[in-house]
Amino acid sequence: MTFDIGTPVNTALFVFILYSVQRIVFPSTSRPKEIPHEFRSGYSWLPKSHTPTVLFKSYTPKTLMPFNGIDNERILLAINGTVFDVTAGRNFYGPNGMYGNFAGRDASRGMAKQSFDVEMLTPVDQPLDKLTDLQPDEIENMKGWIEHFSNKYIVCGKLVENDAI
Ligand code: HEM
Repeated sequence: MTFDIGTPVNTALFVFILYSVQRIVFPSTSRPKEIPHEFRSGYSWLPKSHTPTVLFKSYTPKTLMPFNGIDNERILLAINGTVFDVTAGRNFYGPNGMYGNFAGRDASRGMAKQSFDVEMLTPVDQPLDKLTDLQPDEIENMKGWIEHFSNKYIVCGKLVENDAI
């Protein structure tokens, strides 16, 4: 049987085989001019910048306040001195969230008393709420919330008095 290069099918096949062989013998060694910043642009790639890191910091009522989901994308709240990053719970704590009052604030009393009323919040220029009047069941309630938040959100700082920093 003879191979007739003259037919269109055989010509196409021959060209394809030639192409495939040259790809094997002379593999592509081209390198990208810049480091790709996304996976589609190449197997080896680097993100444009490092992902934001969360630093454990001390916050005061005044420095915590801007993290209320309105002035800042990040939403933080404190319970019993521990500051949680609750940005992932924007539906709860964002401007239209049911618990938006707690955003950027010390939420300890509200969590203890199971109330999101504004009266539960200590004005930011006042000393920290010492919570000394809370009943044992209210303290237990608050601890339960701390456990819930610890399992769900990132602890990103502690709350200290305004004049402590
Ligand atoms: C009208 C009564 C209330 C209803 C119907 C209600 C409903 C809910 C629902 C459906 C969730 C979501 C649960 C989940 O997806 O895990 C939730 C979570 C929550 N509720 Fe309420 N709630 C009420 C009262 C309160 C009160 C008075 C407080 C005050 C402290 C409160 C604080 C919270 C908190 C802190 C969360 C957790 C949000 C999170 O995981 O970030 N709730 N509530």
